[in-house]
Amino acid sequence: MARNFQWVSLLLAAIVLIVSGCSSSDSEKASADTATTGLDKNEISNEAFKDIFPLQYESYMKNEEMEDTTYSGSVKRSKFDHDKEPYLPILFNGYGFAIEYNEDRGHIYANEDIRAIARINDKSVGSCLTCKSTAVPHLIEEMGDDYWGGNFNETIWPAAEAMGHSPIGCSDCHDPETMDLRVTRPSFIKAMESQGIDMSNPTKNDMRNYVCGQCHVEYYFAPENSEVTFPWANGFKPEDMYEYYETVAKDRGFNQDWIHNVSGTPILKAQHPDFETHLEGPHGQAGVTCADCHMPYERVDGKKKITSHWWTSPLKTMEESCATCHSNRDLEDLEERVLTIQETHMEQLHASEDISITAHYYINKMITSGVSEEKIKEAQEHVRKGQWFWDIVAAESAAGFHNPQGAMDTLKLSSDESNKAIKLATEELVKKGVSIEELDKEIEKVKKAVYEETDNFKKKDHATNDYFPPQQPAPKK
Ligand code: HEC
Ligand code: HEC
Ligand code: HEC
Ligand code: HEC
Repeated sequence: MARNFQWVSLLLAAIVLIVSGCSSSDSEKASADTATTGLDKNEISNEAFKDIFPLQYESYMKNEEMEDTTYSGSVKRSKFDHDKEPYLPILFNGYGFAIEYNEDRGHIYANEDIRAIARINDKSVGSCLTCKSTAVPHLIEEMGDDYWGGNFNETIWPAAEAMGHSPIGCSDCHDPETMDLRVTRPSFIKAMESQGIDMSNPTKNDMRNYVCGQCHVEYYFAPENSEVTFPWANGFKPEDMYEYYETVAKDRGFNQDWIHNVSGTPILKAQHPDFETHLEGPHGQAGVTCADCHMPYERVDGKKKITSHWWTSPLKTMEESCATCHSNRDLEDLEERVLTIQETHMEQLHASEDISITAHYYINKMITSGVSEEKIKEAQEHVRKGQWFWDIVAAESAAGFHNPQGAMDTLKLSSDESNKAIKLATEELVKKGVSIEELDKEIEKVKKAVYEETDNFKKKDHATNDYFPPQQPAPKK
């Protein structure tokens, strides 16, 4: 009954959108098929759009605002903070993400933030700019494959600056001449086609997901040319992507993002799979799009309705973002429901991360206790899988909201895998006469040291010590 009711309101909302879409206001005329903006088709500066679309531009400028919600929001802060995920410097040990890893914030800051992050160094490649700057489509066109692998600091950033680029801007999602929505990142189209999805004629509704799916996705850099590649050939679920990494990616020569410094395991790093998670979740399955919640219609200037270009937490705009479909519910109740989902989610995520930490240290002890290579490898397989399944959930941006049940299922998979590694290690360690009690105490000690270190950049240094020596091969000279 409640379900039917929601569907009725969903339909109503759709009708409202169609009706308001027909009453063309000044700002909407340019999106009509025949109209053109007079802008150059290669325009990449946000400011060039300002006078033609002042309302959308003004809305875009709201991305400067920084305010947090309970689990997300727009304040630039470290994911290592005590109320976030304080043990990540252990879990990413040996990789750049253990040095600095921040919460995301507004699109307007994308270029500033990539310049500032300590993970970008003199070896970083052009691909790192792909989801940040409006110059990227033009750099790809001009440089071809040399863009992806080009040196970030020396070549790519200066070229983008010389082009007068903007951080994530109008031209990334709109054709500057017609303002039609468009996809500008070729990796997205290639990956969708790898799954057999026809990209020649997407619907208007699809485009309201696709423009975001160019960037808010899991990816890796292809080993041949560093090209940004989405692992979607087997599907969008975390287990489909894992399967891809174990087959297609390995065949191409991509085995890992890094070797874990505690367990010596080849590990995959997951990145913000908002698109995949949303599509598999209840709203995605019901045809709701990213833009429905994150870019709702809003009334500005007292009367005109425009699409909001303030990409932020929809919990700040529930009246516009949710009430269109959930009009039958009290918004406070709905927010409570979201917060309960997120709270349960974060508890389970922390539990899965905790088991993963134990598994890494048990393997470290296997290595230093002279357990056979074969058993170590077997345990490492489980820890790799366990880490993938919590990380792909942790890297998603909505603290579980985009697919609550899916995230729970994935975290269970993660804990199961880590527990298999622990069980196997325990059997072998007991045979070697290792005291499990002492081992557990030593793990608590390193965790405490990481937690209590106040300098975020130094946290990673406490993850290994004399008892748990670092396992990463020394960097090649
Ligand atoms: C049904 C509504 C809904 C849809 C559809 C939806 N989201 Fe969200 N999204 C949310 C909510 C709710 C949050 C959690 C906000 C919070 O915790 O404050 C969120 C959080 C986020 C965040 C983190 C926001 C922050 O403040 O850090 C990002 C990024 C995001 N979503 C991207 C997307 C993308 C991309 C899509 C489409 C692929 C999408 N969302 C689809 C409701 C939605
Ligand atoms: C060209 C790449 C790109 C596209 C296209 C893109 N995003 Fe983002 N988005 C980013 C990056 C990068 C960040 C993080 C910026 C930072 O932290 O400096 C981000 C951050 C966000 C945030 C977090 C804002 C906050 O306050 O914490 C939300 C929400 C979001 N995007 C939603 C969307 C939605 C919805 C779409 C599609 C309509 C979309 N994005 C399209 C790259 C993109
Ligand atoms: C991340 C993608 C994205 C970016 C960046 C973006 N837009 Fe949009 N824009 C959209 C979406 C989605 C819609 C809704 C289109 C639809 O469903 O018909 C939209 C709609 C519009 C419309 C149609 C009228 C309206 O309000 O619905 C205009 C005009 C517009 N945007 C201008 C701009 C300008 C100017 C900029 C840069 C300051 C910009 N957009 C940046 C995604 C984007
Ligand atoms: C375009 C329509 C649409 C929008 C916008 C929308 N929803 Fe939904 N929502 C649905 C539909 C349809 C379902 C039912 C999906 C199912 O059960 O398969 C649903 C289900 C839910 C559920 C889970 C079922 C329940 O009743 O507890 C929650 C929670 C929820 N939505 C929250 C939100 C929040 C929060 C927002 C705004 C950020 C939002 N929704 C925006 C259509 C929408």
